[in-house]
Amino acid sequence: MSKIHAVVLAAGQGTRMKSKLYKVLHPVCGKPMVQHVVDTLAEMRVEDVVVVVGHGADAVRATLSDRVTYALQQEQLGTAHAVSQAVPFLEDKHGTTFILYGDVPLLSSETLTSLLEYHLQQQAAATVLTATLADPTGYGRIIRDDAGDVLRIVEHKDATQEERAIREINTGIYCFDNQKLLTALAQVKNDNAQGEYYVTDCVGILREAGEKVAAFVAVDPDETMGVNDRAQLSEAEAYMRKRINVRHMKNGVTIIDPASTYIEADVTIGQDTVIQPGTHLRGRTSIGADCVIGPQADLTDVQVDDGVAISYSVLVDSLVAKEATVGPFAYVRPGSEIGANVKIGDFVELKNAKIGKGTKVPHLSYVGDAEIGEGVNIGCGTITVNYDGAKKHKTIVGDGSFIGCNTNLVAPVTVGRNAYVAAGSTINQNVPDDALAIARERQVNKLGYANKLPRKQAKKD
Ligand code: UD1
Ligand code: CA
Repeated sequence: MSKIHAVVLAAGQGTRMKSKLYKVLHPVCGKPMVQHVVDTLAEMRVEDVVVVVGHGADAVRATLSDRVTYALQQEQLGTAHAVSQAVPFLEDKHGTTFILYGDVPLLSSETLTSLLEYHLQQQAAATVLTATLADPTGYGRIIRDDAGDVLRIVEHKDATQEERAIREINTGIYCFDNQKLLTALAQVKNDNAQGEYYVTDCVGILREAGEKVAAFVAVDPDETMGVNDRAQLSEAEAYMRKRINVRHMKNGVTIIDPASTYIEADVTIGQDTVIQPGTHLRGRTSIGADCVIGPQADLTDVQVDDGVAISYSVLVDSLVAKEATVGPFAYVRPGSEIGANVKIGDFVELKNAKIGKGTKVPHLSYVGDAEIGEGVNIGCGTITVNYDGAKKHKTIVGDGSFIGCNTNLVAPVTVGRNAYVAAGSTINQNVPDDALAIARERQVNKLGYANKLPRKQAKKD
């Protein structure tokens, strides 16, 4: 196959979004639109990708980093002008160049591959990916001759009443013979309704020069939608969410209610895992096999091993090992590592806490900046007192220890292995291995005293 290049247009402000955030950086299923486009090209192993940036150039660069090459379009004079900024990178190249818009995030690599194959098979100078829409308003229309061959593309704003009735539209995705694209670009003029240089004119220019111009109709028109405003953004989100859910279900994941399940684009899930309703899986979260996640679990950048159960809980940037259970109502904050077979129960907050194998933190505890060993029992209401108002300090509890209910562990402090801490203790000194620490007032019983209390007196009178 000949060499493949790609130019992604991402310089527009996106005024119709009415946003401080540049259009192509608005996320769809947790990933900026332009990154979806670049990831799709990466899936196809297109290595030579130029992204044209202008508005928000630094932000786009920060998002895509050095995976691509950048061309700067200082002033946004239209899509052809944008492609022209990439000419220095394309000049001496041969083969095929994809042109894609950064605001078309749903496009699949399958569709792009079909477009490319068709383009090469037709030996066309340009091939446009088109779609037939029920409502083509706003899109460029495909003008064909009587024989059905593509003549040119006319923008909605420049189209006659008759042309606007055409329902076949330009998706903004093209394959060009690279050298022929460069020739055509040099001839594009801006004598149109918007006074812009349209890349769509390259199609008509090549055709008039006697070159072969082809059109490939997308099987699924929804995939080619361009996002110009927030209403379209929500449509794109709904479409992609559905596609992601279906992909996981096809891979052997049960999703009880896809309509209330929000899985971001880069999440992975193992076989026979069940996702219960109201669950959000975000960022680089990965879930093992045979887990039950949800109802109402919200995980961001969490690595979950096999056989884990998590319900009604929020977890961020943490690890959960095999067969652990979390929730209901746990909050696991960044830097936590929950060991195998651990139980993190209701109303437990962990932060930067390592919890060893088989340990139980069943209820009402705060464990922060801590290293808890294996087989430890953390009694109800245990608090690591990790903050002195200026600095955070560490709590260590050795393997096999038992921390009684309602204990304060005032850090920095270490409880040894197989030690006991009596309920209600405030521990501010280290506890040796195998010791019992009691740190509370001794109880005094005053016999018969109750009868002297005013309440009892009143009852007697
Ligand atoms: C464009 C097409 C239209 C097509 C539609 C599909 C043109 C002239 N029109 O219209 O035929 O049906 O997409 O979604 O190409 N951009 C730049 N620099 C510029 C102008 C735009 O980088 O100077 C970028 C934008 O950031 C955006 C993309 O090009 O990612 C498309 O621009 P947009 O203004 O959204 O074009 P449409 O009006 O949607
Ligand atoms: Ca657009």
